[in-house]
Amino acid sequence: MDQSTLILSLLFTFTALTTTLFSSGFAGTFDTQFDITWGDGRGKVLNNGELLTLSLDSASGSGFQTKNEYLFGKIDMQLKLVPGNSAGTVTAYYLKSNGDTWDEIDFEFLGNLTSDPYTMHTNVFTQGKGDREQQFHLWFDPTADFHTYSVLWNPHHIIFMVDEVPVRQFKNLEHRGIPYPKMQPMRLYSSIWNADQWATRGGLVKTDWSKAPFTASYRNFRADACVSSGGKSSCPAGSPRWFSQGLDLRAEDKMRLVQSKFMVYNYCTDSKRFPQGFPKECHLH
Ligand SMILES: *[C@@H]1O[C@H](CO)[C@@H](O)[C@H](O)[C@H]1NC(C)=O
Repeated sequence: MDQSTLILSLLFTFTALTTTLFSSGFAGTFDTQFDITWGDGRGKVLNNGELLTLSLDSASGSGFQTKNEYLFGKIDMQLKLVPGNSAGTVTAYYLKSNGDTWDEIDFEFLGNLTSDPYTMHTNVFTQGKGDREQQFHLWFDPTADFHTYSVLWNPHHIIFMVDEVPVRQFKNLEHRGIPYPKMQPMRLYSSIWNADQWATRGGLVKTDWSKAPFTASYRNFRADACVSSGGKSSCPAGSPRWFSQGLDLRAEDKMRLVQSKFMVYNYCTDSKRFPQGFPKECHLH
């Protein structure tokens, strides 16, 4: 082992250690903060509430949701996606409000054949209207280990992050006539289902049911967030950093770099789809 490898591995050991220490304070959250809402036993809470798994087989997928609704926050979850041949499966992880004019902040992970890359699909709905897809490949194998997928949502910004690296931002541009989610509390949902009509290479690759059940795992949920209940919202004490946080120049550079290397679809450059011109926010970043 040369010296730089040694330093790197020490660094990672240290990170792993702090993650373990840090996460133990939040142990057991899955049995107290979530409800498994469908899937007839295919969703399971394990290890005293520290681990949750969702499975899909030919009969059904499964899903869970938070008991709480949130109005702004920094929401983190570690996910380990379906390994091996996951083509045709979709694992979704999203915040969503109720009703016909709902707001929604989406991560969806589209499976693939063994050793072909997952696609991480993102979208933002405001008042029931989405059509703001951006897709990415990841710079690691999301099935080999747990990675942290986060949404930072405050009155000015929505920032999508992967292992704390910003990959997408949706700014509050209400003053330019673009609706922004800020009135409707959202719940966190996750589910796994079969989408082989469209998910993998546009539906060309079908789910191989001989590999079922397909299982995704979750741990270390953390909601540093304002909890909304009965029309009232209660925020964490003090003034949490995320409430006013945006991207500084360095973070913005990092995001642009990730986008230039790993973004595989951007609605803002899909001219076939918007022959009348791109949505307004595309010009305002
Ligand atoms: C699957 O792998 C192919 C080949 O590398 C890639 O083009 C595609 O974007 C990947 N993802 C999905 C969801 O099809």
